[in-house]
Amino acid sequence: MTKDNNTTNTSDNKSGTNTLWGGRFDSAPSSIMEAINASIGVDKRMAAEDLAGSSAHAAMLAACGIISHEDETSIQAGLKQIADEMAKGEFTFSTALEDIHMNIEARLGELIGEPAGRLHTARSRNDQVATGLRLWLRGALDDVDTLLAAFQRALLGLAEAEADTIMPGFTHLQSAQPVSFGHHMLAYVEMMARDRGRFSDARKRINQSPLGAAALAGTAYPIDREMTAKKLGFDKPMANSLDAVSARDFALEFLSAASICAVHLSRLAEELVIWTSAGFAFVSLSDQFSTGSSIMPQKRNPDAAELVRAKTGRICGDLNALLMVMKGLPLAYSKDMQEDKEPVFDAYDALCLSLSAMTGMMGDLGVNREALGAAAGAAYSTATDLADWLVREADVPFREAHHMTGQIVKLAETQNKTLSALSLPDMQSIAPMLNNTVFDVLTPQASAASRISYGGTAPKNVKTQINIWKENLS
Ligand code: ARG
Repeated sequence: MTKDNNTTNTSDNKSGTNTLWGGRFDSAPSSIMEAINASIGVDKRMAAEDLAGSSAHAAMLAACGIISHEDETSIQAGLKQIADEMAKGEFTFSTALEDIHMNIEARLGELIGEPAGRLHTARSRNDQVATGLRLWLRGALDDVDTLLAAFQRALLGLAEAEADTIMPGFTHLQSAQPVSFGHHMLAYVEMMARDRGRFSDARKRINQSPLGAAALAGTAYPIDREMTAKKLGFDKPMANSLDAVSARDFALEFLSAASICAVHLSRLAEELVIWTSAGFAFVSLSDQFSTGSSIMPQKRNPDAAELVRAKTGRICGDLNALLMVMKGLPLAYSKDMQEDKEPVFDAYDALCLSLSAMTGMMGDLGVNREALGAAAGAAYSTATDLADWLVREADVPFREAHHMTGQIVKLAETQNKTLSALSLPDMQSIAPMLNNTVFDVLTPQASAASRISYGGTAPKNVKTQINIWKENLS
């Protein structure tokens, strides 16, 4: 352990046991014990949710006659004062008090005295922490959804501006068939819509109240779990106390959805890296979203895209971290679960920043229509259209048409020409049924415009989809 950890003193502190659980202890924990046990550095982030949970719990205890109304009034005033202290940055967080729950309860005791000791009636930190994290995640999901919608709008704006811009569509990153740039953008709008769906599905299962499950078995006090659930905006109390305190699948669901979303962002980020490189020069990032090189003056680097790509590793790592924490834990609560918050917070931060960066980059992306158009027509990208012409106009079976077209491509290659630059007699030497109308389908524009099947890339289709999305996202 290094000095920086501030925990080098390993000699046990004999004075002062923990006031919240020290009843059966003679001495305070070792500083190492304190260091491994404390989570306040991480879980202070859910202070507001812990205060909300305590406030609802106190109101319920009074309503059910478990504590007096006077005690409740003073608890509520104390909780309010703690919230104010935190807002002003005047609250002192203590590692010795382990976590946010004990920090708040201890401060409440300092502020209001005896009634503070009644707040923890019919409650345990186990249901308390599960409640706090669920509340926190519920808010986080709403933030993520807002960011996702903003990102979709940025993509939609680009799609609308570039619906008629033709680019090469790729498979294996080899030019395949011409597509609309707008169509490419809408593919990501669709992905983001499914991501939003996954987060909103997760929200339903997150939004259930563990409060009142107490340590693991419920409580003998006549509590009203419906009341606290309702006060906290949960849909219902969870039906099994063991499950309520030990379930973390709600956090895993968030991390899974976040991982999938991050993987989607990473794919677009990778495309930006490729498209901005000089060999492609399809798009350019604005000054606001480019960085320079300290040695090469000409450089404009897509750092933000690269970092979005890299943050996907963190987010997927966070999912794995919590999966491994939960694997093999017997019911009900185990302290292992305290390690749930760090990955959740980390993934949330990384995802929000990634979404904002992607929205920023796509929001003012420069689109190089000429480069896209030139690339769209290169590499025999309309060969399928030639084969389709043979099928449609001359009733050639597709497999045969495919073969003849392959030979025509080979001929074009030897003449170092594009398909549309070949002479008709040359093409007819391979496929005699060809006539002059074939040239109408050999441009990338015509190729894209012909793909009118539902979901296809014809700019006409793309515009219909844009209108649907505009309605959806307004
Ligand atoms: N800080 C703890 C956590 O995050 C709170 C619950 C502690 N419960 C316990 N039985 N020690 O998990």
